[in-house]
Amino acid sequence: VIPTTDPVHWAAAGAATLAWLVLTGAAVASVVRSKRADRARSQTLTAQAGQGATLVAFASQTGMAEDLARMTAKALTDAGEAASVVSFADLDLAMMQAARRALFVVATTGEGDAPDNAARVVRQVMGQAARLPDLSYAMLALGDTSYLDYCGFAHAVDGWLKHAGARPLFDVIEVDDGDADAIRQWQHQLNALTGANAPVDWTPVAYTPWQLHSRTLINPGSPGGEAWRLRLSPLGALPAWVAGDIAEIGVPKPEGGPSLASRDYSIASLPSEGGLELLIRLMSHPDGRPGLASGWLTQTVPVGGEVFVRLRTNSGFHGPSPETPLILIGNGTGIAGLRAHLVGRTAAGQRGEAWLMFGERSREHDAFFDDDLQAWLADGRLTRLDRTFSRDAGDGRYVQALIDAHADEIRAWVDRGAALYVCGSLEGMASGVHAALERVLTSDTLIDLSETGRYRRDIY
Ligand SMILES: Cc1cc2nc3c(=O)[nH]c(=O)nc-3n(C[C@H](O)[C@H](O)[C@H](O)COP(=O)(O)OP(=O)(O)OC[C@H]3O[C@@H](n4cnc5c(N)ncnc54)[C@H](O)[C@@H]3O)c2cc1C
Ligand SMILES: Cc1cc2nc3c(=O)[nH]c(=O)nc-3n(C[C@H](O)[C@H](O)[C@H](O)COP(=O)(O)O)c2cc1C
Repeated sequence: VIPTTDPVHWAAAGAATLAWLVLTGAAVASVVRSKRADRARSQTLTAQAGQGATLVAFASQTGMAEDLARMTAKALTDAGEAASVVSFADLDLAMMQAARRALFVVATTGEGDAPDNAARVVRQVMGQAARLPDLSYAMLALGDTSYLDYCGFAHAVDGWLKHAGARPLFDVIEVDDGDADAIRQWQHQLNALTGANAPVDWTPVAYTPWQLHSRTLINPGSPGGEAWRLRLSPLGALPAWVAGDIAEIGVPKPEGGPSLASRDYSIASLPSEGGLELLIRLMSHPDGRPGLASGWLTQTVPVGGEVFVRLRTNSGFHGPSPETPLILIGNGTGIAGLRAHLVGRTAAGQRGEAWLMFGERSREHDAFFDDDLQAWLADGRLTRLDRTFSRDAGDGRYVQALIDAHADEIRAWVDRGAALYVCGSLEGMASGVHAALERVLTSDTLIDLSETGRYRRDIY
């Protein structure tokens, strides 16, 4: 434990945190996309837990850390201990000072960045030195070794906690791409903490089989990579999901064996349409081999064949109330996650205006979901549609250019209470869109919108 009364250590803690804040500046100025939804979820669980409960706090971009935090809390309550699950969107210093014990489940996103739901904690809590001498804690760090800054945000939180004098109960447990062994190790440690002897059985994840009902190449001749629209039908009862949720697809590993690799896909449809729709871009390795999951889904699994799916709640990208005006911004396959939001805005009279800004390569080949969009423009579900195509003569712009081109209207929509939803690629699009929105709305407004859940992102 580092003595926190030592000014040298305070300075070191401050400097380390500051360096990290500078390095992740984009994320800091970035968004808290799930504040309102997360708050509701945090309170539901905290209401059951009284004083002395173990704090289980999650920083999550795509829902995995949130799921594991809930399972962690359940393991504690099953062992007769009180636990309260809190999103980082709601976490504050007082909560950590009041808790005797805290379990953190922390993911890293972007390039070593904090998840959007942790942006406020980074800015307001970790930005200052604190004293937490009475806190014992443990850290489950979610990450992926294929990224340069492995579990970077979890280690930043861990460093900040240590400098605050909090005492680690055991070493940080790193989970590489959902590694089942690491999760089991966490469960063993939880058993040791509670004295329980619960079976260690959270993993492997239970997938449910769906049938590949149809598969259509929607951009033949495109200068971009192949994009395939897949429709999956349930083999049993149709489960529930909402716009913003994610389908995690289990793919047989090339080397065989019982385990599956998994990849996430934004769900383009709603249960009211009877099945799961996905829009999959065929990716390839530098040597030309098809990507593992996108290759299997678009080239290997036969129509009529089985696909293993796990639906994941992604509260950070759930929609606002139906009357809220909605500005949807995306590129490429990002239109999948945006489409689901439009499908849900059906009942005329109750819905707010909706504006889609979309960017792809060529209008002739890449006007994804054009039939839907034209029908929705006609029935008023979509109020406004602006598209831009980067490879078309006379256009040549990316989607962020639309934000600058329509700055006055965007400001007017935001003044009327509009929420901004961004979906699509991390590289190029997300930062370009973010910078354009900062130019048009100011960065303070954008931070404010993110902290009130009016700026949300699903980016990959
Ligand atoms: C929340 C979320 C939602 C997503 N939604 C969709 C979606 O709706 N449609 C869709 O097509 N994909 C989506 N993705 C991406 C998807 O999960 C896979 O990463 C993608 O299909 C590639 O997987 P693969 O197994 O085919 O490629 P791999 O075998 O893992 O890699 C093949 C090659 O592609 C490169 N690559 C992999 N992923 C990316 C990437 N995101 N950007 C640039 N290069 C990459 C790799 O570096 C490698 O060279 C989403 C990802 C996330 C996290
Ligand atoms: C767009 C994107 C960026 C990521 N960046 C990192 C990273 O920089 N470092 C890391 O260790 N893991 C990174 N990951 C992996 C995630 O941390 C990992 O998938 C984790 O399980 C996600 O948890 P969540 O669903 O709670 O957000 C990234 C994942 C995605 C989709």
